[in-house]
This record gives sequence, C-alpha cells and structure tokens, in this order.
Amino acid sequence: MKSQLLVVGLGGSLSKNSNSLAALKIALEGGAEAGARTELLDLRQLSLPMYDPSNSEPPDSVLKLCDAVHDADGLIWSSPMYHGTISGSFKNALDWLQLLGNRTPPYLTDKVVGLISTAGGVQGLQAVNTMEFAVRALRGWAVPLVMPTAQAWKAFDEEGKPVDSTLTEQLHALGREVARGSCQFALEPPTKADAAKAEAQITSVSDREARSA
Ligand SMILES: Cc1cc2nc3c(=O)[nH]c(=O)nc-3n(C[C@H](O)[C@H](O)[C@H](O)COP(=O)(O)O)c2cc1C
Repeated sequence: MKSQLLVVGLGGSLSKNSNSLAALKIALEGGAEAGARTELLDLRQLSLPMYDPSNSEPPDSVLKLCDAVHDADGLIWSSPMYHGTISGSFKNALDWLQLLGNRTPPYLTDKVVGLISTAGGVQGLQAVNTMEFAVRALRGWAVPLVMPTAQAWKAFDEEGKPVDSTLTEQLHALGREVARGSCQFALEPPTKADAAKAEAQITSVSDREARSA
C-alpha cells in the first residue's frame, strides 16, 4: 500500500468565478484533513481540446489529466448543472478518460469517486446522477454521500467561501469519505480478477456491436 493516498479533484466550469470549483476546493480540504495528498485539476486552467478519437498525439493537458486520474486513489468530481445535466466541458474531460482504457488497471478500476454539483435551482441531483452513470461506466465506485449544491449563486461569497458553515462541513465530510473509502480499497482491491475479466468481456461485446451498427 502507498504511504499516502492521493485524492484528485476534477471539475469547475470555464467561468472565471466558478462555484463548482469553489465547492471542489473545499471538498479537497476534507480529503487532506483525512490524511490524503490532494491535487486539483481545474478545467478552466487545464483548457482541454475537444475529445477527438482519432487524435493519436493528445496534448500535454490531456496527458496531465489522464496521468493524475490514473495515479489517484480517490477522485472528487464537481460539475455545474447545465440544462438539467453536467456541463459540456466536464463531459469532455470524462470523454478523454477513454485513454485510460489501455492502462493497468483500466479506467477507474478500484477508484472511489465523490460527486458534487452546483445548480442555480434545486435539481442538482440530476447532474450528480449523470456523473454516477459515468463513474460506473468507467468501472469506478461512487461514495454514497453526494453534494448537489442548490442555489449556488447565494451559497458562496465572492472569494468562493460558503456563506453557511454547514456547507463547508458537508463538503469536508465528502472529502473525508472519499479518502476513507480509498483507504479501504488500497488495503484490499475489491475488483477481483474474475470480475475484471467479466467486465472486459461485456465491454468488448458492446464495443463490437457499436462498430458493426
Ligand atoms: C448554460 C447554463 C445552463 C444552466 N442550466 C441550469 C439548469 O438546468 N438548472 C439549474 O438549476 N441551473 C442551471 N444553470 C445555473 C448553474 O448551474 C449555476 O449557476 C452553477 O452554480 C454554475 O456553476 P459555475 O459557477 O461553476 O459555473 C445553468 C447555467 C448555465 C450557464
């Protein structure tokens, strides 16, 4: 087992004052409180190109994303809610994780993921649920505690600090849960060889079908 777990935060929007980025930073503090090393992947700073399946030489920004996600024991994802789902820039980052299919273990195998959304209204859970579908598709494990942050425009001040300390506590709790779950997985990876083999067969069947469709 590694001496210190790594929790990587991925998200934020392309907005200069991003609430989803503010929430992500606070959740990472919770991961650090629980003893993990943390790293932030701010999508605005990362400036990823659009995913292109035929791009065989992706730029450094994509390699940075993929290497950090692959090295992570735990992840915290944070997307704004756009039109009832996750933002295009966040989904684009997830699309690039397709490059992790050739790594060992592939995709997000045995990684724990905590999910945050920020919404103008009160239906941020839709974005969280969308992210959970992606976690499973990428073979990761979502922690049960999620943070759909409602009316985010009034939940954070201009410096990105939560107006109500309860929100800080909840986001810290999510970060701690991700670190705690990652620790359990690091002790004994739960995805056994037979499960991984079955998963790979299912994936390859669907890939074949998609290509012949
Ligand atoms: C293009 C766009 C679409 C949005 N759609 C929704 C929506 O469907 N439901 C909602 O509650 N808020 C919606 N919002 C509000 C954002 O979810 C909210 O402002 C969020 O906190 C933005 O996060 P950010 O500060 O990280 O960009 C939308 C905002 C934009 C810019």
